[in-house]
Amino acid sequence: MDPSTSGLAQRLAEAGQSHLLHFWNELSPAGQADLTLELQGMDFQEINGFFKNAMETSSNSKHEKMDARMEPVPREVLGSVMKDRDSLKDWELIGLRCISQSNVAVLLLAGGQGTRLGVSYPKGMYDVGLPSHKTLFQIQAERILKLQQLAEQKHKIKCCIPWYIMTSGRTMEPTKDFFSRHNYFGLDKDNIIFFQQGMLPAMDYNGKIILEGKGKLSMAPDGNGGLYRALGNQGIMDDMERRGIEFIHVYCVDNILVKVADPAFVGFCVQKGADCGAKVVEKTNPTEAVGVVCKVDGRYQVVEYSEITLETAQKRSADGRLMFSAGNVANHFFSFSFLRDVVEKYEPKLQHHVAQKKIPYLDAEGQLIKPEKPNGIKMEKFVFDIFQFAKTFVVYEVLREDEFSPLKNADSQDGKDTPTTARHALMSVHHRWLLNAGGHFIDENGRRMPAIPSLKDGTDLPIKCEISPLVSYGGEGLEEFVKGREFHPTLMIDGDGVHELVKNGV
Ligand code: UD1
Repeated sequence: MDPSTSGLAQRLAEAGQSHLLHFWNELSPAGQADLTLELQGMDFQEINGFFKNAMETSSNSKHEKMDARMEPVPREVLGSVMKDRDSLKDWELIGLRCISQSNVAVLLLAGGQGTRLGVSYPKGMYDVGLPSHKTLFQIQAERILKLQQLAEQKHKIKCCIPWYIMTSGRTMEPTKDFFSRHNYFGLDKDNIIFFQQGMLPAMDYNGKIILEGKGKLSMAPDGNGGLYRALGNQGIMDDMERRGIEFIHVYCVDNILVKVADPAFVGFCVQKGADCGAKVVEKTNPTEAVGVVCKVDGRYQVVEYSEITLETAQKRSADGRLMFSAGNVANHFFSFSFLRDVVEKYEPKLQHHVAQKKIPYLDAEGQLIKPEKPNGIKMEKFVFDIFQFAKTFVVYEVLREDEFSPLKNADSQDGKDTPTTARHALMSVHHRWLLNAGGHFIDENGRRMPAIPSLKDGTDLPIKCEISPLVSYGGEGLEEFVKGREFHPTLMIDGDGVHELVKNGV
């Protein structure tokens, strides 16, 4: 329908966005219909409001000011797998009991675009080249399955851990299709709930929405904090309530070591009566690209790596450790009631963060220009921006080598957070599990291989060893397979038993 008769042109004019119809007459009827549909679904006044607030907040929050307002996490809210060894078993038991009562859900944030990794499909579908060639999605699914079994065995009742998966406009269909093609990796289809976060347009510095095609707006997901709006408007909170969910473990897709629904983390948060919790690892390198959990003006918050000055990031405590060392691994705990309050009350109070970007745009002649410097902004909410509303907030510190190895970038020489580093991290964990369970590796001459792989030819390649999550969730139950035995790498332990793969370079 003609935009001037449908009222669309009027709405755009009122919002100062009439340029979006600049190429209207050059579009095919199908192109016109698509553009109309997209524009009709948008609330321009709201988007303009987001832009205004986001720009104001970003120009007010100068780094110097933020730095002066930051305080490290106090010891009393901290639980640590290293420092609180005696409590660990108790926390695990509490968590496992909650799981057995089907009170725990996991929620995966998988709406990102994987731009840095450089793949066109959802990151969870990535195969980092393990001997089994399992994808991140499959590894996570199998950990859920195993944990359900462990809880069932311990408490002799059938239970389920529902898996909520947030996708975005671009990742929804491929993600759903991938799960369906893989038969939901053995999980019950009804307990995997996909939902979709919102999208926002990229805008230039004058608040004009950017066109990337004659009938196409430049759109991007609204950040992983888009979670809260999506939970409300897609009926997910109702679904959780119906299922009797009390605790939710929220995590990001890209960490190959993620302990999905980690009973110890859940149990720790439950025992402390927390409504919100964050898992952290010690940040040891000031320039590492992780956010830090800290207090700002007395309230808990994550200060992103892009928001902290080098000077503050480098500050050290008397013991020589970084002062802001609580590195956010994007694993969060929420009580259901807190999450419901966030969705119903606090979400509108969250400000968008501004990311300055080089955004391809059409010039007045309809030529696509790829700018060399930032020409506009993308607006995103962050999942941890709600920490400030928690009444009881806790922090749980874990060992990096056991629990954190994110996949962010494509492989490159000395690359950080790549498929290679993720693969090595997982195999190192599994190697340690095997040693702990009394197994050993031997080399081609029958000699025992050292527990810590030596630096050989300038590389410290881990021993190739992969243990299926269907066999062990966290290193338990391996003695029957490995105790007192010697193996040649490459070793795989899966539901069918122990396999020494003949071909070493798999
Ligand atoms: C994130 C954390 C950072 C942490 C780091 C650890 C946020 C905002 N930042 O940073 O503090 O130290 O992980 O690895 O959480 N996603 C969506 N929708 C979006 C954007 C992202 O679902 O619109 C999902 C991604 O699919 C991914 C996760 O959020 O699972 C994190 O996104 P990413 O862009 O990789 O965050 P980082 O900048 O690495």
